[in-house]
Amino acid sequence: MSRAASNLQIDSARLWDTIHETAKFGRTPKGGVRRLTLSAEDKQVRDWFRKACEGAGLEVKVDALGSMFALRKGRDMSKPPVGLGSHLDTQPTGGKYDGILGTLAALEVVRTLNDAGIETEAPLCIVNWTNEEGSRFAPAMMASAAYVGDFTTDDILSRKDAEGVTVGQALDGIGYRGTTPVGAQKLGSFVELHIEQGPILEAEHKTIGVVDSGQGVLWYDGKITGFESHAGSTPMPLRRDALATLAEIVLAVETIAKKHGPKAVGTMGEAVIANPSRNVIPGEIAFTADLRSADDAIMNALDRDLRAAVAEIAGKRKVEVTLELIWRKPPTHFDPKLVDAVQNAAEMLGYSHRRITSGAGHDACNLNTRIPTAMVFVPCKDGVSHNELEDATQSDCAAGANVLLHTVLALTGVAS
Ligand code: GLV
Ligand code: MN
Ligand code: MN
Repeated sequence: MSRAASNLQIDSARLWDTIHETAKFGRTPKGGVRRLTLSAEDKQVRDWFRKACEGAGLEVKVDALGSMFALRKGRDMSKPPVGLGSHLDTQPTGGKYDGILGTLAALEVVRTLNDAGIETEAPLCIVNWTNEEGSRFAPAMMASAAYVGDFTTDDILSRKDAEGVTVGQALDGIGYRGTTPVGAQKLGSFVELHIEQGPILEAEHKTIGVVDSGQGVLWYDGKITGFESHAGSTPMPLRRDALATLAEIVLAVETIAKKHGPKAVGTMGEAVIANPSRNVIPGEIAFTADLRSADDAIMNALDRDLRAAVAEIAGKRKVEVTLELIWRKPPTHFDPKLVDAVQNAAEMLGYSHRRITSGAGHDACNLNTRIPTAMVFVPCKDGVSHNELEDATQSDCAAGANVLLHTVLALTGVAS
């Protein structure tokens, strides 16, 4: 690599400005971002992103699920592009960095190469994946899963949100149902920069997480059917209370995750009482559960233990509980050569680093099943994410973007 390329650094202030400029699309009163996938705010940030990519000389294509691909030509166009990026959608009360850092850092990498007049051998392709978060439409990371063929495009287009709006209708609503068939924009490899979303890097004073693995995910939809009756006149022994049942299931999930810990976590993030009223014993509740582990055997044990606990609680309380596994994502083991490339870049730049497992799911985890993939983590304040208070420092974001830049340069090669 030429001296100019090996000394290259991204523009930290410019990256910081783009992160804060785009945070206005869906800004919340507490300084976070609410930008549900395919919402009006998502359209705003997508339009901004498209214009910024075009301004950097990239050709932007949109696929049939709304994922955006921005291509920077390389010297050898017969080579598949090196992909880099993440997502611009957020949780309902999300932060300014989850997904956004990786997408805007990819833009910053291209702007830096442009400024330095560097042509890469292989092309580059920045990607903004649709619906990474999974809070409006399940499952999370659905567009990258369809990209690698784990779901058909039609299946994903027909998924509905809580209001009954399909992915297809939502795409049409914001004008982002593209014409590129899903999977048609080939990528030779993919690198994603992300905040850690956990406490390890900060606690160990490490700047870079070299991500070598990711937790597998089990997502369930559940329903409890008890019996609605009068809160005043129904004796305690005669009740079939759906909410009291839910309380036991919530504690069971916590107990099961702890039993298999530290390599397991379990969460119940949604519960909806049908026809709630303070003087009616709840008769019907819909709920979700999210259990994760980086170990396949532990994932099986989590599933087994949850089903057994639910059956026991339902029997004891004389209610019906259905539990449907709607998504199983196996643990991820990132490509060893790409993981080494991330580590080499961190070492070359002199950043402290450690190998790390991702607790969160990422589009990179889906891509890794078909193409060589790796991830770069940077610390976030107190390990907090999926929260409006999510925070990261400018220098850590810049360090992550520099590692992304040099990993990508090592993968593309620099045209002389
Ligand atoms: C995505 O943010 C997930 O890990 O659920
Ligand atoms: Mn994310
Ligand atoms: Mn997230």
